[in-house]
Amino acid sequence: SGPEVARLVASRVLDVPDFPKPGVVFKDLMPLFADGHVFREVIDGIIAHHGRDSFDMVVGIEARGFVIAAAIAYAAGVGVVPVRKAGKLPRPAYSASYALEYGEATLEVHQDAFTAGHRVLVVDDVLATGGTAEATLDLVERAGGTVAGFTVLLELAFLEGRKRLSPRPVHALLTV
Ligand code: PRP
Repeated sequence: SGPEVARLVASRVLDVPDFPKPGVVFKDLMPLFADGHVFREVIDGIIAHHGRDSFDMVVGIEARGFVIAAAIAYAAGVGVVPVRKAGKLPRPAYSASYALEYGEATLEVHQDAFTAGHRVLVVDDVLATGGTAEATLDLVERAGGTVAGFTVLLELAFLEGRKRLSPRPVHALLTV
């Protein structure tokens, strides 16, 4: 159930102070990935929430989103598409940039990643400011996909990413 999965996620997050820079508390979900039982419960919980037949492609956001996306795709019997940081994809790609506290970041997806009508489930480990997710959802749509859902394992509510993505629905297994 939802509350049980939330408790599992909560039990496998490590707070890492001052990473990647002073004053930031990094939410490390590697212990969740490393626990086979919890990882399976989390993946099955995401699929159950959206419904196995509600999507036919999964997008994972570099880098930790890849781990989640590949597991969901395999379990559901669908394909997986990576959204990558700038300069990593070998063929023509769409780019989306967004502002960071200092500077900007760019994400990319291959232009031929989707065919019209692909219903795409987008996943990542953490929703913080929402810049990464907003750029990714834009990229999926520009590449011809339809966003079927967006799920993160952990939402940091105080950074208001959900507001930034509004009115798009956001599903978080755990919100803190
Ligand atoms: C983290 C996290 C999300 C993003 C969320 O990735 O995995 O993708 O930040 O932040 P936002 O909501 O403020 O955009 P990171 O930039 O650390 O990349 P990595 O997974 O490649 O290390």
